[in-house]
Amino acid sequence: MKILITGITGFAGSHLADFILKENLGTIVGIQRWRSDLTNVKHLLGKVDMYECDLRDASSVRDLIESVKPDKIFHLAAQSFVPTSWNAPTESLSTNILGQLNIFEAVKKVKIDPWIHIAGSSEEYGMVFEDEVPISETNPLRPLSPYAVSKVGQDMLGYQYFKSFGMKIVRIRGFNHTGPRRAPVFVCSDFAKQIVDMEKGKRKPEMFVGNLEARRDFTDVRDMVKGYWFALEKCEPGEVYNICSGKTWYIKDILSMLIEISGADIEVKQDPKRLRPSDVEILLGDNSKFIRATGWAREYEFKQTLEDLIEFWRDFPE
Ligand code: GDD
Repeated sequence: MKILITGITGFAGSHLADFILKENLGTIVGIQRWRSDLTNVKHLLGKVDMYECDLRDASSVRDLIESVKPDKIFHLAAQSFVPTSWNAPTESLSTNILGQLNIFEAVKKVKIDPWIHIAGSSEEYGMVFEDEVPISETNPLRPLSPYAVSKVGQDMLGYQYFKSFGMKIVRIRGFNHTGPRRAPVFVCSDFAKQIVDMEKGKRKPEMFVGNLEARRDFTDVRDMVKGYWFALEKCEPGEVYNICSGKTWYIKDILSMLIEISGADIEVKQDPKRLRPSDVEILLGDNSKFIRATGWAREYEFKQTLEDLIEFWRDFPE
């Protein structure tokens, strides 16, 4: 079993590789660009094959698919930070949509028939009304950022290539996930790192935050990647599935949980630069379709995830 992971150098990709190796599920090929940061995969080097490829370059992707001929593809590479998509919308749309298109076209031209996982997002639902939660897969898509539009594009391309060419594509709408190795631009990791920097005396006990009134449905990354694996083992090609915990947290409550874990005495200040032109106010998913198909169950409680995240930053080499 040859498994290709795009985005292996990132957060979810590196955890998925850990899961596959631990369970001895196959041989992994990951991709990197010449300037990729390899911090998240240092422990994997020598255990996975790394291949240089830029997904925005169709010929590079075709060479990759031709030489690897994967049985499964987990497509996790993306511009994944919502605020960046307002500052660099063209880059976000082209990386996310055209990168995926290049994979589909390469698979078609090389004439292989792998299972393909598509990383859609709960951001696709965007503007969700209070009477629409928990959000099921049939909820309308009302994206509120260029990032969210790019994920709708990826999702719909997955549907279209399944319908047009019978490709075995499973579309996953992943809700928020966090845990060790999360980049410190995302809310839980950002807050955890600020707190740990205070513990280490690297900054004043002042915490900068954005919109604390938003609500998000969080899953531990280690549960999320297990879900990705189940998706290609047990789900229907062409179909779409939410992966989420089915619980939602106010960002302000997550901040309180992190402060409580640390025990630090902290002054919280809103930084206007952290507010978005439009923010998704509530994400609370319905995971019943995915659980029915796969039997997936979460192992990590959210408090444990936050404790592990704080520990990750405490141990992070200076
Ligand atoms: N990043 C950040 N920093 N977010 C903050 C802050 C802050 O200081 N303060 C409040 N927030 C709020 C944001 O406004 C948002 O409502 C929420 O915290 C979560 O923000 P992020 O962690 O940046 O994630 P996201 O929800 O925008 O997107 C993440 O989840 C999606 C799935 O729903 C990303 O992982 C996406 O790639 C993913 O698709």
